Amino acid sequence: MTPELNYVDGTLTLEAVPLNAIADACGTPTYVYSSAHFERRYHALDHALAGIRHRICYAVKANSNIAVLKLFAGLGAGFDIVSGGELERVLRAGGEAERVVFSGVGKSTDEIAFALRAGIGFFNCESEDELHRIDRQARRLGRTARIGVRVNPNIDAKTHPYISTGLRTNKFGVTPEQAQRMIEYAAVSDALEPAGVGCHIGSQITDPAPLIEALERIMELTDTLQAHGVPLSHVDLGGGLGITYRDETEFDLDRYARALVQRLAGRDLELMLEPGRYLVGNGGLLLTRVEYLKPAAEPMGRNFAVVDAAMNDLIRPTLYDAWHAVVNVHTPDAQTTTRAWQIVGPVCESGDFLAHDRDLALEPGDLLALLSAGAYGFVQSSNYNSRDRAAEVLVKDDAFTVVRRRETVSDQLALESTGATANEMTD
Ligand code: LLP
Repeated sequence: MTPELNYVDGTLTLEAVPLNAIADACGTPTYVYSSAHFERRYHALDHALAGIRHRICYAVKANSNIAVLKLFAGLGAGFDIVSGGELERVLRAGGEAERVVFSGVGKSTDEIAFALRAGIGFFNCESEDELHRIDRQARRLGRTARIGVRVNPNIDAKTHPYISTGLRTNKFGVTPEQAQRMIEYAAVSDALEPAGVGCHIGSQITDPAPLIEALERIMELTDTLQAHGVPLSHVDLGGGLGITYRDETEFDLDRYARALVQRLAGRDLELMLEPGRYLVGNGGLLLTRVEYLKPAAEPMGRNFAVVDAAMNDLIRPTLYDAWHAVVNVHTPDAQTTTRAWQIVGPVCESGDFLAHDRDLALEPGDLLALLSAGAYGFVQSSNYNSRDRAAEVLVKDDAFTVVRRRETVSDQLALESTGATANEMTD
C-alpha cells in the first residue's frame, strides 16, 4: 500500500475517492490511477538529482494515457518514446518534441521522418544501419538530427530475462567500439550532430549497483570521445528503477542518486533518465468484480474465484510470472470464510490467471483491487476473446475523471469488414 491508498471506514480509498464510487460510475474492470502518487514520485527523483543538470524523460510505454502524459508534461518532464504513435500521444498531451528522446531498435523510415519534422530532441540509435537511415532522412528533409547512441554495456541487471536488455545476447544497443564509430560518424556528417551516449540495461531493477556500474561504462566512453574532441551534451542512463510489488527491498533512490550526482558533478553534461515503472507502477490499480466462486469440489482441489478482469487486461502475471497484490475493496464480513483462492478471468486458457493462492474472504459480487498495476498494465492489454478493453480513471484529491472510456464492441469492429464485395453488399 502506498500513502495514497488507505482503508477509510472499511472501504479502500485512493487519495480521497472510495473505489466503489468509481466501480458504480464506470463499471469494472477499470484501471484507476493516483495523480498525487505520480507527482510525488516525480518530485522525489527530481529532488534527489538536484545537484546536477538532469532531465527526467518519462518512458511513455509504461502508461501512455494522454492524461498521464499531460500530468508529466506539466511537471516539466521530457519523454522517452519508441514509436511514432507514442510521439503523437506526447504532442497531443501538450509535450514538447524538443524534450523527447526516440529509443528502440526498429524505427521505421516514416517514424524517423515524422520525428525529424516534429523537431525531436534526439534519437537513441541502436545500430549503424539505423544511423545511416537517419542521416539520409535528415538530408532529405533539410534537418539536423541530434544523435545519441545506445550502448550495450554487457551488464547483468538481475531481473526477469524478458525485461533484461543490457547483455550482449540481447538485441539492444551496440558495443562501445561501434558506439564510438557511430558518434564519430555523426560528428563529421553535416546532417547529424552528436549528442551523447547512453544505455538501458533492463527493467524492474531493485539494486542500484548494476545501474551505477552501467554509468561507469558510459562515462568511460564519454571520456574517450571527449578526449578525441567530440562535443557531447549528455549521458543517458535509461530507466529500470524497480518498485515494490511484494517483498522486494525498496529501491534505494538516495544511493542511486548520490552515485550519479558524485560522478557527474562538475561535468558539463546533462543527465538523461528514462524511468517509467518507478513513476507510475505503484500509483495504479485494476478494479475488478468477483463474478463466480468455484470452491474446491474435492479435498485436494483448488478454489477458483472468477473475476471480470482477465489476462487480456493485465498480462503481467501470465507473461512474467509477476505478482500483484489482491485486496478487498470493502473489508469482508467476519462470517465470510477465508480460503486460498486462484484469481482467474473469463478467458478460455489455463494461462488466464491474475494471482495464485491468495488468502481472501470472498463473496460473489465483491470488488477487488489488483495493486501496483499503473505501469505496463493497460498499455499491454488486448481484445483477446473479443473483450472490450477496460476504462481508465485518474483520481485527484476527492475527484475522478474517466480518461479513457470503456471500449465497446462497435469500437472493436470499426476497423473490420466481412470482405463482402460491393455487389454482395447491395444485394
Ligand atoms: N527506456 C527504454 C529504452 C526502455 O526500453 C524501457 C523499458 C524504459 C526506458 C523504461 O523502463 P522502466 O523504467 O519502466 O523499467 N512490460 C514489462 C516491462 C518492459 C520494459 C521495456 N522497456 C513489464 O511489465 O514488466
